[in-house]
Amino acid sequence: MRRTAAITGVYGYVPEYRLTNQELEKMVDTNDEWITTRTGIKERRILKDPTKGSSYMAVQAVEALLKKTGTKPEEVDLLICATVTPDMTFPDNANTICDIIGINNAFGFDINAACSGFLFALVTGSKYVESGMYKKVVVVGSDKMSSIVDYTDRATCIIFGDGAGAVLLEPNEEGYGVIDAKLRGDGSGRHFLHKKAGGSLNPATVENVIAREHYAWQDGKVVFKYAVNGMTSTMKEVLERNNMAPADLAWIVPHQANQRIISAVGEYSGMPEEKVMCNIAKYGNTTAGTLPLCLWDYESQLKKGDYIMLTAFGGGFTWGSVLVRWAYDGAERAEKH
Ligand code: UT7
Repeated sequence: MRRTAAITGVYGYVPEYRLTNQELEKMVDTNDEWITTRTGIKERRILKDPTKGSSYMAVQAVEALLKKTGTKPEEVDLLICATVTPDMTFPDNANTICDIIGINNAFGFDINAACSGFLFALVTGSKYVESGMYKKVVVVGSDKMSSIVDYTDRATCIIFGDGAGAVLLEPNEEGYGVIDAKLRGDGSGRHFLHKKAGGSLNPATVENVIAREHYAWQDGKVVFKYAVNGMTSTMKEVLERNNMAPADLAWIVPHQANQRIISAVGEYSGMPEEKVMCNIAKYGNTTAGTLPLCLWDYESQLKKGDYIMLTAFGGGFTWGSVLVRWAYDGAERAEKH
């Protein structure tokens, strides 16, 4: 049997502070009823400490992951961090995370694919394991979205939250792990979801900061439409080429951007609602954090041999679906959180 990259552990981290819909009602012209019915979100976690960036959350998740899986930091070969909110434009978060944890016999890099970041990083990491090059690869998604959210813009500030999640990838010869993937991108989507200033095209100036161009902006309606199509079409393609039907899946693990998108993805793929992972009500959209945070929350329900489909859509546009055969009984390893 071919060598695959199995997910052998998962861990998440969310900051303590809960930004509720009621609190947002005091900040912008919105209300709990609108947010709940239009997005499904009730609260999001916010990393309040101004001295901490996204690497802090990633460190919490990865340290706990290594402890849980009995992995010594020096055994890790590679760490990939998916993020659109790195501590600094450069250096990357991955090297900062490795330094703080003592992962000192490895290399690392960041992947910027917005809400598809974890998916792209997972597939990239799996290839290093499948090739035989490395044995222990950590993939972490971490975003401090509160650092780029405009809390005067009701169309975006109600959606995003902060959080991180990490998985460990190890070689497997029994058919568990990342089985197949369809990843896509379409750069024409950059006009509908972006952060305009702060990069090399529009370096930070007093003018563009005053114009609030250093915050994330999106045309939500356009993104919504593309998201449902992108996630369902790639999922269908991956299922078809593996001679599988939705009924063969134990779970769909969708990016958590909007409850209505999650429901539509479940509906169009013919999956009953209870088989579609969903924790958006308590975390909102944590960008690269959503997929591993779902796995972390649902770990106790995952069984060895379960086929699960991870699917995401995000800025770029980027999107895709990844088929994974779960490698262990989650109930035996899940920790209460
Ligand atoms: O993860 C990355 C990818 N991102 C996504 O997948 C996000 C996809 N998009 C969405 O989730 C939704 O488009 C939003 C949640 C962002 C917006 O929901 P919508 O149903 O598309 O609302 P809309 O933008 O069409 O706005 C409908 C109305 C407007 O009022 P009028 O013009 O009809 O009078 C908005 O001004 O709702 C208004 N509105 C709000 N009202 C209360 C927009 N935001 C709010 C708000 N509270 N927070």
